[in-house]
Amino acid sequence: MADPNAPVRWGSRTTFVLALSASAVGLGNLWRFSYLSGEYGGGAFVISYVLCLFLIAAPVMVAEVVLGRYGGSSPVAAIRRACDGSLRSRGWTLVGALACLTSVLMLSLYIVVAGWGMAYAGFMQAGVFSAARAAEVGEHFAQFLAEPMQQVYWQSLFLLVASGIIVLGVRRGLGVLVWLAVPALLAMLAFLIKYGFDYGDIAATRNFLFSTRLVDFSGESVLVALGHALFTLGVGVGTGISYGAYAPQRIPIGRSIFAVAVFDSVLALLAGLAIFPIVFANNMEPNAGPGLLFISLPYAFGNLMQGELAGAVFFLLVVLAALGSAVALMEPVVAMLMQLARLERFTAALIVGAVVWLLGLAVVMSLQPGQGWAGFGERNLLGVFDMLTARILLPLVALLVTLLVGWRLRPEILRLELARESALFFSLWRFLLRYIAPLAIALLMLAPLRAGGV
Ligand code: PFF
Repeated sequence: MADPNAPVRWGSRTTFVLALSASAVGLGNLWRFSYLSGEYGGGAFVISYVLCLFLIAAPVMVAEVVLGRYGGSSPVAAIRRACDGSLRSRGWTLVGALACLTSVLMLSLYIVVAGWGMAYAGFMQAGVFSAARAAEVGEHFAQFLAEPMQQVYWQSLFLLVASGIIVLGVRRGLGVLVWLAVPALLAMLAFLIKYGFDYGDIAATRNFLFSTRLVDFSGESVLVALGHALFTLGVGVGTGISYGAYAPQRIPIGRSIFAVAVFDSVLALLAGLAIFPIVFANNMEPNAGPGLLFISLPYAFGNLMQGELAGAVFFLLVVLAALGSAVALMEPVVAMLMQLARLERFTAALIVGAVVWLLGLAVVMSLQPGQGWAGFGERNLLGVFDMLTARILLPLVALLVTLLVGWRLRPEILRLELARESALFFSLWRFLLRYIAPLAIALLMLAPLRAGGV
């Protein structure tokens, strides 16, 4: 019989890698990466993104996984245990609490946007945008945002599904989800890329995404690349700690994170190849964020052959990508509540779900006309939460993790957790974590960039 006190574990190392990959692939891959690449220098931006991903974001993620492997799935308890083991102040546990706060805020954005995605999958399939003019599609989105009930319905449905998966637990819920979601994501992307090649403008896409334009490339490009690298890998929200805690004993953590980072980047590039041929086919200006997803693309699909089907598939892709990220954001907070308040998984998920639902409601309400809604990133809560999480909290937690793991924990503990990696890897990782990552992240936080995550 299974031991009820046995630690919870992913079924295999592959499940661990898939789970982190499903967390990493989210809205950022779909509506930001390729746009940033196009705007900030094409090939030169992609190269600086890859460098930031592997030299800065990935080492931070490895540090989070090490914390989870050593101290357990609750970010607060994991950090407390790690500090006790190295005779350091327990004040560091605040970092765990901050990570959970970041998760909750990000999740409340995710459920709103994923809810829109669900609604738009239905609109596309019903042919609402067939042969529509661009202005009509924009008008439709503005009207949709002005109807809170519909948005609340869809966000509730999405949150219910995500919470249900969390309640089912690590093996039966999250583990099963990722094995279904990742292949489905790939299949949908393959379908959309084929569609883009058939009906889209490939030459314009190639030019936009990949041709290197050094005039657009600057110091700011590198910082934007770094911000995106941290966001897309999903550091700073406790996922690495929780998912790492469920990893099988003695996995090669470094190589696993490397695999996740490669997968995440390949998916971001593929998403660019799926999206921009469609956008350019209608001679639209490239853009990012909600405007790209809910105005440009519905218009573009609506004016292409079989656009109803392709558009519906696209929005299902959005919802599925958001689901993998949403459960990853929720799990650390649920794990923390279970551990701190000694709650059952069900009760903890219910409480987190209720808080996130209320925050999501506040976001939706802030988008109502007359609430200062004058465009995204202005005064509505979507812009405020996005700025707060992607620009402030997420880098702050990542910075504190580099200081804690790089400077405060005993290296022997870390070496033990990374026993499957070579001595050279360990030294390099520790060097990046102690010197390069904190400096770069501090620079990012001080720079007056406008771009958030959403
Ligand atoms: N990586 C996600 C994206 O690119 O959209 C965002 C994210 C999801 C961050 C889940 C953290 C996380 F736990």
